[in-house]
Amino acid sequence: MRRYSRIAGTGSYLPPRRVTNDELAAELARRGVETSDEWIVERTGIHARHFAAPEVTSSDLALQAARQALEAAGCAAQDIDLIVVATSTPDMVFPSTATILQHKLGVSNGCPAFDVQAVCSGFVYALTVADAMVQTGAARCALVVGAEVFSRILDFSDRTTCVLFGDGAGAVVLKASDTPGILASDLHADGQHVGLLCVPGHVSGGAILGDPLLKMDGQAVFKLAVGVLEKTAHATLQKAGMSESEVDWLVPHQANIRIMQSTARRLHLPMDRVVVTVGEHGNTSAASIPLALDHAVRAGQIKPGQNVLLEGVGGGFTWGSLLLKM
Ligand code: ACO
Repeated sequence: MRRYSRIAGTGSYLPPRRVTNDELAAELARRGVETSDEWIVERTGIHARHFAAPEVTSSDLALQAARQALEAAGCAAQDIDLIVVATSTPDMVFPSTATILQHKLGVSNGCPAFDVQAVCSGFVYALTVADAMVQTGAARCALVVGAEVFSRILDFSDRTTCVLFGDGAGAVVLKASDTPGILASDLHADGQHVGLLCVPGHVSGGAILGDPLLKMDGQAVFKLAVGVLEKTAHATLQKAGMSESEVDWLVPHQANIRIMQSTARRLHLPMDRVVVTVGEHGNTSAASIPLALDHAVRAGQIKPGQNVLLEGVGGGFTWGSLLLKM
């Protein structure tokens, strides 16, 4: 009998400090940087984001989201036999945030744990990898997390980027199943666009060489994103033998409401079938899709048996999508 993987529980966590556009604009004004709630809302749909306290790391946020997902799945931490964390803001250069999370969760069974680095596509990449490992029998109960403290890599003198991002974490527990949960996925990367969206700095000889803050050509990213998101959604639907009309919910990467509206239009999906959390979360990179998924599950929007299409795009350039039955 063929083995499948299925989401058994979801969880998420936002750090308590909520920063509205007006609060951020006032903070930026003190540094001589001009922005406004009107500009941010009109161009992005973002009203607020959450920022973690300075001592809080991605693994701390991941821990809270993971505990919620385990509870929802009815699993104990020791049941986990694979941990994959998608993050671009790891606790350390090494070891992985996944191994740090493993220890914080008290998982002492020696299960594999590793990070996936695909920026905002990270969660779709991580879920695809975990699904493949469950299908081959390498894992039976995988914890897949997206966790970020993007506030650490923001340049607060650059108004074109610092207003867009926030911190948070989302998690799912993926279990082996006789019936299909994850139906199909599609992943891509194109390294020629590395410079469009990057944090160029790196550690060398005890110092940071290059700028350790986020750089983005927003307009170029916007144009690329809209095209590749449509293509990958269609590729995944084709692999699953399904049509656009069979998608109950689209859970897109939460970067900008205009990108989501454009993608929905191209997929002939009304906006009331698109999960939108960017207004309250901002762009939380690898955390954005699992945060939005958990939000919609807990709000009673996404129900068991429904078809959910996840899709992400981010630095690299990377992009991908994944179709699942809840
Ligand atoms: N407040 C006020 N004015 C601003 C701000 C701001 N925060 N930021 C830019 N402006 C100004 C610009 O200086 C410009 O002024 P000018 O016309 O006098 O030169 C004007 O607003 C228009 O700027 P644009 O860059 O043309 O604005 P645009 O409508 O393209 O919106 C944005 C910018 C929001 C960044 C948009 O391009 C976007 O969302 N791009 C996609 C970004 C994205 O999705 N990134 C995440 C990918 S995921 C990952 O991997 C991290």
